[in-house]
Amino acid sequence: MRQSSLVVVANRLPVDNSVAPDGACEWRRSPGGLVSALHPLLKHTPATWIGWAGGTGPAPALPDVDGVRLHTVPLTPEDFRDHYEGFANATLWPLYHDAVEQPEHHRRWWEAYQRVNRRFAEAAAAVTEPGGVVWVQDYHLQLVPALLRDLRPDLRIGFFLHVPFPPPELFMQLPRRAELLRGILGADLVGFQRAQAAHNFAQLVAKVFGVPATDRQIEVDGRTVRVGAFPVSIDTAEMAALAARPDVVARAERLRNDLGSPENVILSVDRMDYTKGIEHRLKAYSELIASGHVKVRDTVMVQVAVPSRERVGQYQILRDRVEREVGRINGEFGRVGEPAIHYLTQPFDRAELAALYRMADVMAVTPLRDGMNLVAKEYVAARVDDSGTLLLSEFAGAAAELPEAYQVNPHDLEGLKQGLLAALEADPEDAATRMRAMREHLHRYDIRSWVRSYLSTLDETVSAPTG
Ligand code: ADP
Ligand code: G6P
Repeated sequence: MRQSSLVVVANRLPVDNSVAPDGACEWRRSPGGLVSALHPLLKHTPATWIGWAGGTGPAPALPDVDGVRLHTVPLTPEDFRDHYEGFANATLWPLYHDAVEQPEHHRRWWEAYQRVNRRFAEAAAAVTEPGGVVWVQDYHLQLVPALLRDLRPDLRIGFFLHVPFPPPELFMQLPRRAELLRGILGADLVGFQRAQAAHNFAQLVAKVFGVPATDRQIEVDGRTVRVGAFPVSIDTAEMAALAARPDVVARAERLRNDLGSPENVILSVDRMDYTKGIEHRLKAYSELIASGHVKVRDTVMVQVAVPSRERVGQYQILRDRVEREVGRINGEFGRVGEPAIHYLTQPFDRAELAALYRMADVMAVTPLRDGMNLVAKEYVAARVDDSGTLLLSEFAGAAAELPEAYQVNPHDLEGLKQGLLAALEADPEDAATRMRAMREHLHRYDIRSWVRSYLSTLDETVSAPTG
């Protein structure tokens, strides 16, 4: 078995098995923030990425992608249902996002979570060089750090949570909370998106295990576990270069013409997820049209909502509701050839996304809760001429880093409407000052700086007993 000195373990591989229009099987980049964040890093590092390839058959053997070795972990139909759709996405995902939907608890799901985490830990143990670094990602795999430490005490183990970490009173609802925390504490470094999450985690550990815990380090089982906030970012230069490419600029102009050359284009790009606040945004927009503050002829909204976790009940309900609402708004306010909302559920390649970002005057990113939200950062990176305004929820991780955005509380419908209007009517000079400041921030704190700061902190950790 080939071994690497750096191994990333994530539920998803960076590529997804999909079927091309001609029926052939092709591999394309998986959607979602985690893959967007890590993909650029690994292009330049000899590493192995362990993950699931997306189906429920035997694990396919995949060729290296951009020099990254892909090691697939299979999921059976039961694993898919109980681990991925169940414990990961119907227990943990809603719980970690402020319980904006009700988390479900089933013992069978927890068993599957343990089983699948063990499989990932065994795969990591097999492909990591002696003394190597393993970087475990996200809420699907919180038991892996401790399982892996048992199997391979020689390794340096990092864990990073891409989603929010909830306040202690919410986390305490989890029937197997202590086991889950123990799993994470197997890491040498536990990274979060925001300082508040690191604080929540330390408080919980102190409460559940009665051990010394600060927002920076925890003493447990004679070891020191470092804790910290490492806000994830994007490949800012890559997105900026893409957005400046002549074909992308031309495509953005064409898209705008196709929309009827309106004065304003509002864009939203989300995975179809109840955390993204899509319904709240549609309601705000339709009320602005109904009250005459926004005219359909002058202003067009483009909502991209790529379907996600499609068999999970809460996601099916959301999609039905969103589509009904889009239909209602278009039926009520659109005209022939002039819909109020252009609604797209297709995945796009990076160049098409860049063209959409370039085309939009206002980007509305208004999640109810979001670990980071890379779409907001991608929009900023694409605004190479400093035009455009970003409307950003206070509850997106990105809000802490982008104070120059027009920030709103998406639960406050009136506030959301005011925010949309303010973004639409922004003074161009003020908007450009804000955009420039945000772009500068993202060029400084890009994905490379995130990886550097996480891995160098991991490197400083000492796995030896503290005695
Ligand atoms: P999440 O991780 O919850 O999906 P993020 O905003 O952090 O949310 O990341 C979403 C990522 O998925 C971004 O990199 C974005 O460009 C990508 N993405 C979103 N919608 C699409 C789409 N329709 N086609 C291709 N990529 C998409
Ligand atoms: C979020 C999660 C990722 C996940 C992505 C897409 O970004 O933090 O771990 O990969 O959403 O979701 P999916 O269920 O399709 O992997």
